[in-house]
Amino acid sequence: MTAREWVIVNPGGSHRVVVTGELPGERWLQLLTAADCRVEIAQGHEVLVAAELRAAFANPCDAVIGQITESWSEEMLGALAAAGALIYSQYAVGYDNVDLAAATRLGLPVGNTPGVLTETTAQLAVALTFAAARRIAEGDRLMRAGAYRGWLPTMLLGSLLFRGTLGIVGAGRIGAAYGRMMVEGHKMDLVYHDVRENEELERYVADYAAFLVARGERPVTCRRAATLPELLGACDVVSIHAALTAETQHLIGAPELAAMKEEAVLVNSSRGPLLDEAALVAHCRAHPCFRAGLDVLEREPAMAPGLAELDNVVLVPHLGSATTFTREGMATLAAANAAAILQSWPVWPAARSLEDVRPFLEDEAPPRAAPSIVNADALGLPRLAASPQGKEDQQ
Ligand SMILES: NC(=O)c1ccc[n+]([C@@H]2O[C@H](COP(=O)([O-])OP(=O)(O)OC[C@H]3O[C@@H](n4cnc5c(N)ncnc54)[C@H](O)[C@@H]3O)[C@@H](O)[C@H]2O)c1
Repeated sequence: MTAREWVIVNPGGSHRVVVTGELPGERWLQLLTAADCRVEIAQGHEVLVAAELRAAFANPCDAVIGQITESWSEEMLGALAAAGALIYSQYAVGYDNVDLAAATRLGLPVGNTPGVLTETTAQLAVALTFAAARRIAEGDRLMRAGAYRGWLPTMLLGSLLFRGTLGIVGAGRIGAAYGRMMVEGHKMDLVYHDVRENEELERYVADYAAFLVARGERPVTCRRAATLPELLGACDVVSIHAALTAETQHLIGAPELAAMKEEAVLVNSSRGPLLDEAALVAHCRAHPCFRAGLDVLEREPAMAPGLAELDNVVLVPHLGSATTFTREGMATLAAANAAAILQSWPVWPAARSLEDVRPFLEDEAPPRAAPSIVNADALGLPRLAASPQGKEDQQ
């Protein structure tokens, strides 16, 4: 392992903030320097290993902005708290790599970056859905191999999803956004499975159905499946958007794949371990008309043996949030979380949608608040009060 290079910005700053990878954009650094932070940024394309991470905050450290590729175990968080840190700020919306219960026991706030990833990640899921259904990667490989001999009536036939049935496993922010895109764009009927009812999504589809009826068209439908098997057998597309927890590990394995239609499309843009990758390989080998699109892998960056040889699987390297807007927005929110906690500011009332967090991204004087601290309520952190007009009181 070669020695890691670090870039130090605002070396005279009085709070030491360690950032475990280079982040895009400039606003995030402006927020931290305005908060009197000395910012130390790890350089290079290699993910920080645990020993490097420990060494990075061995000296007194006030905050870390870290990544999903790092394991923030109880031991690591304990070491961070012992180094004097007041916050661990995650550069992601998901935080399954963080032992949240341990952080709360240690009194350590954990920040995340909701709102800016929703549409971007949902669009990637849409892209994977159609790449798989319409065999885009197979076509691309055929062209590059010089194997295209002219149009043929039977070449690379895929599936028409228009007016088909869409299944969403986990209808939270991203799952619901993906559902809206597929229902509105392709007039699909929606079935979702979630531990919670999503009334807003159901209302949205009902309103769209009324719009179609008013135009003399057949309406679309939306229902919540009581069980996962009920959804799996009914759908032409199944897209996974549930968070990774102990309960959702291998939510889709061999029995669930067997319950799906032979020509269904399965998409995973949530977290790799929700899907049993070895079972997927076996299923795709045995069912060439079944197609899958994967943004995430069970043991990233490794692929399950045999996965890369399958023509009916489209693979991309965890690109869900990879737009300039989103990655810069994530950096801004992660920095705003750290800067706010270091300045003892309260927590923003809500950060579910892009509109909720837009003031942090765009306002000349961003709110004096932490946009999103996932254990804020468990830690009893104060929240910024919303004024009666619905505007936030920024005092
Ligand atoms: N591929 C990427 O780059 C990328 C980008 C952003 C987010 N993500 C991942 O996408 C996932 C969803 O993010 P989000 O912002 O929509 O989160 P969210 O919390 O809004 O939604 C998650 C949903 O999963 C549901 N859920 C929990 N347990 C379930 C279960 N057992 N069965 C069915 N549903 C269950 C929850 O009730 C919730 O509605 C997260 O895991 C996140 O890590 C991936």
